[in-house]
Amino acid sequence: MKKLLLSVFFVSIVFPLISQAQPTLKDKYKKYFPIGAAVSPRVLKSADSVLVLSQFNSLVCENQMKPALVQAKEGVFTFKDADFVVAFAQRNNMKLRGHTLCWHAQTPDWFFKEGENPVSKEVLKERLRKHVETVVSRYKGKVYCWDVANEVISDKDDEYLRSSSPWVKNLGEEFLEVAFRAAHKADPKALLFYNDYDSEKPVKRDKIIRLVKSLKDKGVPVDGIGMQAHWKIGSPTREELEKAIDMYSALGVTVQFTELDVSVYQSDDQKQVSELSPEVDKQLADYYKMCFEVFREKKKKISGVTFWGVADNVTWLDNYPTRGRKNYPLLFNTKREPKQAFNEVVNF
Ligand code: GLA
Repeated sequence: MKKLLLSVFFVSIVFPLISQAQPTLKDKYKKYFPIGAAVSPRVLKSADSVLVLSQFNSLVCENQMKPALVQAKEGVFTFKDADFVVAFAQRNNMKLRGHTLCWHAQTPDWFFKEGENPVSKEVLKERLRKHVETVVSRYKGKVYCWDVANEVISDKDDEYLRSSSPWVKNLGEEFLEVAFRAAHKADPKALLFYNDYDSEKPVKRDKIIRLVKSLKDKGVPVDGIGMQAHWKIGSPTREELEKAIDMYSALGVTVQFTELDVSVYQSDDQKQVSELSPEVDKQLADYYKMCFEVFREKKKKISGVTFWGVADNVTWLDNYPTRGRKNYPLLFNTKREPKQAFNEVVNF
């Protein structure tokens, strides 16, 4: 009965709303690049799944493949939630990105300790290898690309790698070599990415280039750079964006926008805006229009654009960085209807 009511709801209310919004993202961008969304099993079991299926042809797990969820305790792997998303993607012929194999956050402390003592280099490398090989092998042939390492570059202008990261502290740049090589060994066909935010800002961009160059010079298999693209209206500029894509591509790697959303706020203390504010809606639409113009112009250098969420009803930016403040960073509003930004992205 519950299932029947749910289907009636989808068919009579949700589908008509979506069909008014033709064309769809995935159709319009078929000849350009896959269009993805970050999801969880909860999202896929909710009414959001209608939008997921109609608009997107690629998925990524928002959290379910991160070390903290996959291997909370040493040697105890938990794949239930990740498997759910993988099965959904397979059933619906969608591509799937893997996110993320190593990161300084959402990674359990046990990796870095042996009893009460700090872990030795050799043990840490072995744990890293085992983690990467186990996760990548499980999804071999199902996950087409992996964010092997996330956010390794420092935010401080005068620091290269993030010295507060336990990976960097223990192993320096070598942890990247170990992780990329282990991922490649487990699935030689998967494309392997270095992923970071603010990757269009010149200082960070140049450090990412230095890192990827250095890895490639050592023969480490790096195929792509993931630009997270947690942006805000107006930033980055068209020039910054174009330059970063061109410079990354010149390294011989492909570029993906891996976590796209555009905050409607310029600062942490800016007051709550109304969802229906026409000014903000228009500014967001103009900004998205510019971004997708650049993506289309540079399609040969870009192999995917993934949104960090489906619709404004659920976004991590609701509470970050300002607690309790609602944000509207995506192409669909809280009722899952297309916003003006959606129209700008598909009408070209
Ligand atoms: C980073 C991570 C993502 C996610 C977002 C916030 O960008 O790469 O996995 O945690 O932050 O939701």
